[in-house]
Amino acid sequence: MPATIIVGAQWGDEGKGGVTDRLTANADVVARFAGGDNAGHTVAVDDKVYKLHLVPSGILYDGVACVLGNGTVINPVNMLKEIDELVEQGIDVSPTRLMISTRAHIITPAHIALDRASEKARGEGAIGTTLRGIGPAYLDKTGRQGIRAGLMLDDEEFADTVHNAIEQANQTLTAQGFDPLDAQATAEAYITAAKRLQPYLTETAVYINDQLRDGARVLCEGAQGTMLDIDHGDYPFVTSSSPTAGGALTGLGFGPLYVDRVVGVAKCFATRVGSGPMPTELDGELANRLRGSGERFWDEFGTTTGRPRRCGWLDGVILRYSSQVSGFTELFLTKLDVLSGFEELKIAVAYEVDGQQVSYPPSTIHDLQRAKPVYETLPGWQEDISAVRSPDDLPQAARDYVQRIGEICDTLVGAVSVGPKREQVIPLA
Ligand code: GDP
Ligand code: IMO
Ligand code: MG
Repeated sequence: MPATIIVGAQWGDEGKGGVTDRLTANADVVARFAGGDNAGHTVAVDDKVYKLHLVPSGILYDGVACVLGNGTVINPVNMLKEIDELVEQGIDVSPTRLMISTRAHIITPAHIALDRASEKARGEGAIGTTLRGIGPAYLDKTGRQGIRAGLMLDDEEFADTVHNAIEQANQTLTAQGFDPLDAQATAEAYITAAKRLQPYLTETAVYINDQLRDGARVLCEGAQGTMLDIDHGDYPFVTSSSPTAGGALTGLGFGPLYVDRVVGVAKCFATRVGSGPMPTELDGELANRLRGSGERFWDEFGTTTGRPRRCGWLDGVILRYSSQVSGFTELFLTKLDVLSGFEELKIAVAYEVDGQQVSYPPSTIHDLQRAKPVYETLPGWQEDISAVRSPDDLPQAARDYVQRIGEICDTLVGAVSVGPKREQVIPLA
């Protein structure tokens, strides 16, 4: 395995952190290629639960190098907070094993304030962002006025640039009736953070290419999910980056011929946090059962924002599309255990839009909002399956459900998990 790419196949929170953690056992480098601290990856190791936002999940394995690639956006203050929390938990997060690309972009408090202002201005049509400044940071990047992380190596230039960025954002904020930020105090906090992050900064694309050339195994940890992709997702209810397989190549800077495995991660049902279409969304008792009460750490409440996630039946339409746009070599299905106890289970196999059946997600929000799922119904199972480790020990209905998902997506199902812990995995291929 020279390079493996892990991609979320739904609307994020599919369990990518846990899958990354399990595959890190066979990796030398784990790299994030898109997004920032809008991500929340929960990883359970023995009795400990780690919540990662920016630091790649590979950090939990001794000796594995971790990279934040050029495609990511970094909030220096939050980055340091996360590093400090991990160190407190006994994890080695020294610059010898964590590298930040000098080409990654910086999220400033101006971006966060603008994210909040833009959400307010949208009113009813708000995207429901994580308010981490992600959209405005990528907007500055593509508008060619962003701040590359490498600038943190130059104290004075960095201070001036952050200061100016905040002054400029203040004009927009005040024009829209929002309070301006204190440019001086903000810039100071950023300079302190930048100083501490300097040893982590490097040309990560060069590092990764050297590693790949020397035979190292690189695992690319996706954030968000295909339906949040700026090109392939439910635009405009998306994030501002490319969390699909193509994004791994641009977001880290290596060529496609190194990739021999693309693992699509999907939950065995659907969840979404934030606004936007979700054709298979449920409410009431069924949704509550899928979501859980919030007592268990894996219940469906956001890792980053704590918001309850919207829940629904598995959407085979988006899964099939996700498999195509990233070229999944296999699917890793998570949370099969949560489906125990349902009498029957539904999977959307197509949508109906104005009486016409479509087999892929429509491109416009107007059509998406009118898409009605066409369901196939399968029998459920009652048994607790969280201790099952072999496919032969799964109830027949559970095996049939998993097999049907593979058929609908025309993709091999490589494994299913039946709990959040490392060992709660059933390999299928
Ligand atoms: P990510 O953003 O894709 O990494 O996913 P999140 O961490 O936001 O959400 C997935 C949640 O499901 C986490 O709390 C995981 O610990 C948990 N999880 C992952 N796989 C399983 C599984 O097979 N069963 C159960 N019950 N929980 C799981
Ligand atoms: P992980 O990596 C779930 C969603 C937000 C919002 C939209 C845009 O944990 O799967 P943004 O702050 O990125 O501008 O918000 O995208 N979103 C996520 N939803 N999991 C995530 O990350 C997400 N990252 C962003 O809720 O709908
Ligand atoms: Mg998450």
